[in-house]
Amino acid sequence: MSELLSIKEASEWASSHLKKNVTTANISYLIQYGKVKKYGNNGTIAVKKYDLITYYKSYNGQRESNWREKLGKDLNWALSFDNLKEKDTTKHIHRLHPYKGKFIPQLVEYFIDNHTDNFKKEIYFNKGDIVLDPFSGSGTTMVQANELGIHAIGVDISAFNSLISNVKIGTVDFDNLKTELNRITRALRDFIFKNKNTQFEKELLEELNSFNKKNFPSPEFKIKVRNKEIIEKVYTPKKENEFFQIFEALKKKYNLKIRQDKSNSFLEKWYLEPVKNEIDFTFEQLKKIKNPTTKKIITIILSRTIRSCRATTHADLATLKEPVTTTYYCGKHGKICKPLFSIFSWWVRYSKDTVKRLQEFEGFRTNTHQICLQGDARNIDIFLTLENKNPEFAKLVKKQKIKGIFSSPPYVGLIDYHEQHAYAYDLFGFKRNDELEIGPLYKGQGKQARESYIEGISQVLINSKRFLQEDFDIFLVANDKYNMYPTIAEKSGMKIVNQYKRPVLNRTEKNKSAYAEIIFHLKEK
Ligand SMILES: C[S@@+](CC[C@H](N)C(=O)[O-])C[C@H]1O[C@@H](n2cnc3c(N)ncnc32)[C@H](O)[C@@H]1O
Repeated sequence: MSELLSIKEASEWASSHLKKNVTTANISYLIQYGKVKKYGNNGTIAVKKYDLITYYKSYNGQRESNWREKLGKDLNWALSFDNLKEKDTTKHIHRLHPYKGKFIPQLVEYFIDNHTDNFKKEIYFNKGDIVLDPFSGSGTTMVQANELGIHAIGVDISAFNSLISNVKIGTVDFDNLKTELNRITRALRDFIFKNKNTQFEKELLEELNSFNKKNFPSPEFKIKVRNKEIIEKVYTPKKENEFFQIFEALKKKYNLKIRQDKSNSFLEKWYLEPVKNEIDFTFEQLKKIKNPTTKKIITIILSRTIRSCRATTHADLATLKEPVTTTYYCGKHGKICKPLFSIFSWWVRYSKDTVKRLQEFEGFRTNTHQICLQGDARNIDIFLTLENKNPEFAKLVKKQKIKGIFSSPPYVGLIDYHEQHAYAYDLFGFKRNDELEIGPLYKGQGKQARESYIEGISQVLINSKRFLQEDFDIFLVANDKYNMYPTIAEKSGMKIVNQYKRPVLNRTEKNKSAYAEIIFHLKEK
């Protein structure tokens, strides 16, 4: 068991142990990514048979070999990042605001940093280079570029996404930020104190706690449901109704108005009246801020807060169904839950969290340029737009030109990027450009949508080429189900020189089957 094997011996042994071909490159990968321990020096590298057995027996080891069988030997397991925890992929400023369609920072790092391995055989970006992300989204490429000492330009059609990106990499006046946050929190506390909804909510919570303790004890309730001693479908509506009577009585006692009179806009439909009043009050406070960067950061905090306070059940937070205006049985928590009647606790929590995350990032920040330009990547003049925003950076970009692209384009018919932040557009009044989104969900995945998608992405590549160095490298992350990227490359006068297959784990959807996305490497034809 403690027998030492050379890499070649290990590959032979593993091939016969697993009854499939395990190459020496596979073994080297296990060593390189710390999955099995390395013994000996260069030249005489060895691994222990015992370590290999343990690895192949482990969940990840089994999953890795199963997935390889299904998706092909060229699956690059290093890109699964199966060793990372959620806190690593959402480290510091990467979690300043929710955003559907983000890629993980470590994926960007893998391609733009200066390491090489069996799959990535060259270094594509060095310190001082400029990287472009024409679909910047929440700014992941820019943040990682900053950490690595690389300049970066982002472009995004959505004003709100550009704001998230620029807040992430902008410099922060921490004293001013804390002062303004304290001022607004104090004002909000005073505002809420005058209203009866906090007293109502306090009493409601007390009633809920004692009701849940009696009728939904944890974990006994869930165990009984599992053992079919309680039929959830019969029991819960009865209890829901029982508590509803208590809720109605309290509402009457406090004479509380819960629904808004109109439901035309997002803010009218998805917020209870007391919450909407607090949102409006806080927004008025925000308008008083003079320092522009502080104002932008606090806009993001308020946006994150109101996103968490939409009148929805806990289960439907990600995909809103119908507004909830009363208490309800929550399948997720196995008890009666309530919608939010105040934004205060989320506001306080997100204010503190944002300051902490921005401060954490200070420890990684390099003195390089990053900026997200709001515009249509199909036709934006990067040099000109940048000149107006940051002349010093514009000069550098014109002289040096952009080294390459790292980006994840929208995929056809998957996400509506404006609509996912409808609450922010509604409150802050940013102009929406839904009709300029490439491949939005609302246009579907039909033939016409696919054709216009191919046209759109090709135009972005052709437009971007004007600002790139001659020997550029372009990396595009896409799960190209419709095999459109070969046509896109052709139309853009480029060729696909490599494809990295990345296993996608931890998917939130119910379907957890083997699935890989491709990172296309394109170069000039
Ligand atoms: C997959 S997301 C990028 C996510 C990003 N990699 C991140 O980690 O946050 C695609 C982005 O492309 C943007 N987009 C769609 N059409 C665009 C266009 N015509 N010009 C520029 N950006 C566009 C969307 O607003 C969206 O933010």
